[in-house]
Amino acid sequence: MRADIVILAAGQGSRMKSNLPKVLHTIAGKPMLEHVILAAQNTQSMVGEGKIHVVVGHGADQVKAALGHYDLNWVHQDQQLGTGHAVQQALPGCEGADVVLVLYGDVPLIEPASLISLLNTSNIGSLGLLTINLANPSGYGRIIRNESSRILAIVEEKDATPEQQAVSEINTGIMAIPGNKVSHWISSLKNNNAQGEFYLTDVVAMAVEQNVSVINTQPQSRIEVEGVNSRIQQMELERALQEKLATDLMINGVTVVDPKRLDIRGEVTAGHDITLDINVVLEGNVVLGDNVIIEPGCIIRNSVVGAGAIIKANSILEDAVVAAQCEVGPFARLRPGAELQEKARVGNFVEIKKSIIGKGSKVNHLSYVGDAELGDNVNVGAGTITCNYDGVNKFKTVIGDGAFIGSNSALVAPVTIGRGATSGAGSTITRDIPDEQLGVARGRQRNLDGWQRPVKKH
Ligand code: UD1
Ligand code: CA
Repeated sequence: MRADIVILAAGQGSRMKSNLPKVLHTIAGKPMLEHVILAAQNTQSMVGEGKIHVVVGHGADQVKAALGHYDLNWVHQDQQLGTGHAVQQALPGCEGADVVLVLYGDVPLIEPASLISLLNTSNIGSLGLLTINLANPSGYGRIIRNESSRILAIVEEKDATPEQQAVSEINTGIMAIPGNKVSHWISSLKNNNAQGEFYLTDVVAMAVEQNVSVINTQPQSRIEVEGVNSRIQQMELERALQEKLATDLMINGVTVVDPKRLDIRGEVTAGHDITLDINVVLEGNVVLGDNVIIEPGCIIRNSVVGAGAIIKANSILEDAVVAAQCEVGPFARLRPGAELQEKARVGNFVEIKKSIIGKGSKVNHLSYVGDAELGDNVNVGAGTITCNYDGVNKFKTVIGDGAFIGSNSALVAPVTIGRGATSGAGSTITRDIPDEQLGVARGRQRNLDGWQRPVKKH
């Protein structure tokens, strides 16, 4: 089946009070419109095929620039004359579709499962509506049924009689329209209503008039069909999605100490028996092996943490790879290209950038290691700095297996410290140290006998 999907995203979203178009505001780190695009793609891959058309207006250039990497048919609606008018702009591209499914760029949490069930139910050429019953239906279009509970029409709140306003079943806006009817219906819409708009919802009465059956399905959960008009609603959906993501992790064997204090802004692949403590933020693609412990206050972005590793409190990882059984932190920063091999340890106030820390090696205190390659079982003393940058170019530091770098060493790259070599504490190492040798580069200590401390002048 070819199911084309039209996503309406032309509205301004003035209640967001923002220079950013509403549909680019994020939920769980992703623009709302991107959530909808992904749900649309998923749905199409399960029901067959189809094109995705996105109707843009306000901030169109910004929206297209942000999501230009998706395979989408961008459609412009210069004036927002109503939801029916918006769909009309996309119709030329929908020719040949079996069904046209209408979604909203500001209703971000719609699930493919609900769309698939709507499409399957309306498969036989009927008009499909996604509806829901709300205790407080105000603001929405109401579903009007006859005595035998057949759907007759959708009436917008502003056009509804008090009796119609009392109906609790509402139109979510999501609708599946038969492909062979859509262009005739849409081109027959009139704007003689309270808002002077071309209402998409008027196609329901047309279907009834032409004896096309109108069916409905309901979503699994209410948050799927909730729209975002304000930052408060955005926050509510953010929390609802975060709760769901945390629940999914727990179902899959992850201990989440407090689901309200975990934030996931991307894709997490997690093994078993992981513990995520409070105030952890996981961003981008994060892979966590079995038995990993993430202590409070860590931010982990696009990184891999191997089985049994522990990331102690307040550490930040970005584009880093941490192998099994490593220990990182507290207060460590792993920047892009940091690679810790098995059982390596990086301690407090240590920054690692674009460097390999070999198996069992330790950089435990107050150090900067950048553009370096450390072998296995290296011990880097407190306060060590790789001086990798001369203000113009970057250079590499190579440290062999089993080397011992004394505290407060400055290793001026390019430089190689041999296997089993030692640098004396406080040295500024500008030349290579051969294997097994000691390199010392500092002023020799003199002790002055009979030295008098200065005394205060009166
Ligand atoms: C619409 C439905 C209403 C439903 C409600 C669900 C109609 C006439 N009414 O009402 O039955 O209960 O959604 O939230 O369809 N848009 C455009 N171009 C336009 C007009 C709207 O792209 O010309 C987009 C908006 O950006 C928004 C969406 O369509 O994302 C819905 O438009 P909105 O004006 O908010 O419709 P409602 O009045 O809420
Ligand atoms: Ca609305």
